[in-house]
Amino acid sequence: MKTSKKTLRTSMGMIGAIGTVTTAAMLLAGAAHAQSGPIKVGLMLPATGTYANLGTMIENGFKLYVAEQGGKLGGREIQYFKVDDESEPAKATDNVNKLIKRDQVDVLIGTVHSGVALAMAKAAKESHTLLIIPNAGADAITGPLCAKNIFRSSFSNWQPGYAMGKVAAQKGHKKAITLTWNYAAGTESTKGFQEGFESSGGKVVQALTLPFPNVEFQALLTQIASQKPDVVYSFFAGGGAVKFVKDYAAAGLNKTIPLVGPGFLTDGTLEAQGASAQGMLTTLHYADNLNTPRDNAFRLAFAKSYKQNADVYAVQGYDAAQMLSAGLKAAGGDIKNQDKVVAGIEAAQIDSPRGKFKLSAGHNPIQDQYLREVKGNLNEVRGVAIKTLADPGKGCKM
Ligand code: BEZ
Repeated sequence: MKTSKKTLRTSMGMIGAIGTVTTAAMLLAGAAHAQSGPIKVGLMLPATGTYANLGTMIENGFKLYVAEQGGKLGGREIQYFKVDDESEPAKATDNVNKLIKRDQVDVLIGTVHSGVALAMAKAAKESHTLLIIPNAGADAITGPLCAKNIFRSSFSNWQPGYAMGKVAAQKGHKKAITLTWNYAAGTESTKGFQEGFESSGGKVVQALTLPFPNVEFQALLTQIASQKPDVVYSFFAGGGAVKFVKDYAAAGLNKTIPLVGPGFLTDGTLEAQGASAQGMLTTLHYADNLNTPRDNAFRLAFAKSYKQNADVYAVQGYDAAQMLSAGLKAAGGDIKNQDKVVAGIEAAQIDSPRGKFKLSAGHNPIQDQYLREVKGNLNEVRGVAIKTLADPGKGCKM
């Protein structure tokens, strides 16, 4: 049979039309799937190194909240993608891009280390990926680097440091030495302490540092012993905090010069620190015996699921999931509708085990700072050092 040019054109047109319809149908199906398939959650946390345990507690807390919601947030299943960031800032950009570019996650949850989180925040800002930080306190992230799509469920480094500065001055201490790792968390925490302490009449006479994650404290402890301050304020966490608190006591310093700090110094570490931590005072947005119905229920559920006690890191992971849930609910489960997700998180009051909180304009929790004292294996609450403390968020413009 001979085909005329006109018949051929008509057939080609029909094929083109069918192709267009098919492509449109596929796109619609894809969009529908994007709104009904699983939400891709990228967990970037340390699984190795001095902060490994903190990463595990955050992940467990996050997953506990998801499990309590029947495995779904905002009506959507959750699919996890994981990267071990090793608390290594030099690898942070490559690591976060594995989640953003390779796995194409919808939301990033991470991390513990401030230096790594700063790189994550930059990548999240550039790619417009939603980021919820479940620990790292780098002040700049909710300050000059703040962004609509970046939230924190934890604290700014300034918050517990400032609160402890006020407490130390109220206790009558006049002369302090600070000692910490030389990176954002340490230097910002000790600056917060200095601000609180000096605004109430104290003086920080020396600021000692060592590189992260170094734990050779001996020479620095010798310096403290010879200078005899009234009090020492230190930021360390995880394995480094265990070693530091033990070394401080082994040097006999805890008998004459009280060691204080942000609660990270004794949170999740007490079994390993044993007698060396007894009686230590710290400030933090969580304590082990708040004894509220909300916290008791959370601690029971956590202990049942993971056969260990919850700590501040578990709470921050749990609340990161609550924040994501609030955003997804506001957007009817459509994570691609970022304006609605963001507005939902901004408006939410998070029913945290630590106590209810809302977010500041820079997206950092406004929260009570508890004064805690170590008794046995617990950080027992002794009162509220500062109520509803908001990070100043200096330089944040959205
Ligand atoms: C930080 O790097 O921001 C950090 C790490 C551990 C505990 C608290 C803060």
